[in-house]
Amino acid sequence: MNAKPETRNSKLRIGIFGGSGYGGSELLRILLFHPNVEIVFVTANEHAGKSIGEVHRNLLGLIDMNFDRAPENPSRLADLDCVFLALPHGQAMDLVPELPANVKVIDLSGDFRLRDQATFEEHYGRAHTAMQSQAEFVYGLTETNREAIRGARLIANPGCFATATLLGLAPLVANKLISGRVIVDAKTGSSGSGAKPAANTHHPQRMNSFYAYKPFTHQHVPEIEQELERAGDWTSELVFMTHSLPVARGIFASIYTETKSELSGDQLHSLFSDFYRDSFFIRLVKGSPDINWVKTTNFCDIGFAARGQNVVVFSAIDNLVKGAAGQAVQNMNLMFGLDETTGLMLVGTNP
Ligand SMILES: NC(=O)c1ccc[n+]([C@@H]2O[C@H](COP(=O)([O-])OP(=O)(O)OC[C@H]3O[C@@H](n4cnc5c(N)ncnc54)[C@H](OP(=O)(O)O)[C@@H]3O)[C@@H](O)[C@H]2O)c1
Repeated sequence: MNAKPETRNSKLRIGIFGGSGYGGSELLRILLFHPNVEIVFVTANEHAGKSIGEVHRNLLGLIDMNFDRAPENPSRLADLDCVFLALPHGQAMDLVPELPANVKVIDLSGDFRLRDQATFEEHYGRAHTAMQSQAEFVYGLTETNREAIRGARLIANPGCFATATLLGLAPLVANKLISGRVIVDAKTGSSGSGAKPAANTHHPQRMNSFYAYKPFTHQHVPEIEQELERAGDWTSELVFMTHSLPVARGIFASIYTETKSELSGDQLHSLFSDFYRDSFFIRLVKGSPDINWVKTTNFCDIGFAARGQNVVVFSAIDNLVKGAAGQAVQNMNLMFGLDETTGLMLVGTNP
């Protein structure tokens, strides 16, 4: 691998804010074995002071650090190279303007994804207090935005549903093939709601259930529309529906649309494989992907089928890896001149 970090020494000095949650847990699982990274501190809120291996039992014996409280004066963190923010929505907008200008930031929350303040405030139900910083953020969907990510200091890591949907649609949009409405029928596992127990993630409620939520109003709708508009002359209507699956990890999106002309399965395959020819983490599969084969990995598996002008694309990711921490590390790699796959050769399990 072609590893050339632009730092004083060979290791990037990294801080993680919100390391005790699920996103933070995955950042730690990946970054602990990243050859170019030194983890300097990891913050928590209620778990501050506890040992990391005690909270994330999968990491027991692999890390000898405790969770810190978030530093009171973030402007003193100038000796870091990069921070990951895995905090609830609304926290990053307070923190980012306080960080030293030399520190790169990758924010996993929704705080800086939307360019329009009114749209943010409508969908996140809070005022945005750092729109000047937002203007500097680059949207971190790695496969479609590599060049901007390489030169960025601030990255807004995409939402998990947005990642699965945009990766499924990107080749069709880039080739201006869509003629009709796009309907996205997407499902997520319960870890999408974070580590704090809640009624909608409680095992007896969730284990045998299946239901839709936030019809037409999910906060990823404007994010997806914004990025489709940025990708080209997007004029189609998007219908986006989210459902809860009785599994812990995984996002599966079925994306239905109509194309301007008839496309065979072979034509679709060559279109997608051409578009993703330099994208190691996109795997084209025959028929349907399966969340089982992407779980714990940074892969996005994509399948498709066509009949006449009707096309359906299936896209599967692990919400916590390609949908959060894995993509965040993929972006960090690009920002520091590393091979995109460094530290991300995560293999799934069979079964
Ligand atoms: N889960 C997913 O699949 C996923 C996917 C993509 C993006 N995201 C986004 O990534 C971010 C983190 O998600 P998550 O699932 O990891 O959430 P989470 O499991 O709830 O973790 C939240 C983290 O933030 C800390 N925290 C909570 N309240 C805080 C406060 N007032 N001040 C400082 N720290 C606080 C928590 O610390 P304590 O636990 O110690 O209190 C914990 O470390 C969210 O913005 C989420 O939308 C999540």
